[in-house]
Amino acid sequence: MQHDSSRSPGLGVRAVGAHPQVAAPIVSARDPDWSRESKSFWSWHPSRSLLASLRAYERASRGRGIGAAVSRRLAVLRHRFWSIVTGADIPLECRLGGGLLLPHPNGVVIHPRAEVGPNCLIFQQVTLGEVGGVAPRLGGHVDVGAGAKVLGGIVVGDDALIGANAVVLQDVPAGTTAVGVPARILR
Ligand SMILES: CC(C)(COP(=O)(O)OP(=O)(O)OC[C@H]1O[C@@H](n2cnc3c(N)ncnc32)[C@H](O)[C@@H]1OP(=O)(O)O)[C@@H](O)C(=O)NCCC(=O)NCCS
Repeated sequence: MQHDSSRSPGLGVRAVGAHPQVAAPIVSARDPDWSRESKSFWSWHPSRSLLASLRAYERASRGRGIGAAVSRRLAVLRHRFWSIVTGADIPLECRLGGGLLLPHPNGVVIHPRAEVGPNCLIFQQVTLGEVGGVAPRLGGHVDVGAGAKVLGGIVVGDDALIGANAVVLQDVPAGTTAVGVPARILR
């Protein structure tokens, strides 16, 4: 599967081994970069196809009448198909900011009440899950490493990093890195 971070650097580039003389593109925590989700019709990017089905459902849900109802139904069918292909469990009701990257969508689970800000990056096997009925809120440009679990009604601030396999049970301030089980804040 093609790796998306060549176009929009995530954990690997901005935190690990970034060359000081190579300027990484600035990724906004506020303005969604929709090119991160785009794909040509024939290219094989299952995660982007899954996101396209979620966006189609969002658009159809804002419409009225029979046309919108048919579009919504088609989006549901597309979403089911791409959920099976990717192995991701991202419900249609999720509030996902634009510009989301899912380089390897396998095993990504997002609770329907979780919120994800613009231009986030979520690696494989990540769970954004509820505890006591409340789910996490990710700010903008948050990168979540492979296998991390972010649980309960916590807030992850803009530009934060979550390390691989971290279990995050408390708020993560903007611009900091959380690692470990349970997660501690590095900086
Ligand atoms: C979290 C991460 C971004 C930190 O990178 P960094 O800022 O360069 O941090 P360092 O490597 O300098 O490590 C700082 C400390 O955090 C610890 N640490 C780093 N990553 C950790 C992790 N995932 N889990 C537990 N501890 C971790 C280090 O052991 C070190 O601890 P110490 O200060 O007690 O010695 C990076 O380690 C990481 O987990 N990236 C995820 C990448 C990923 O998931 N890629 C998927 C590709 S398919």
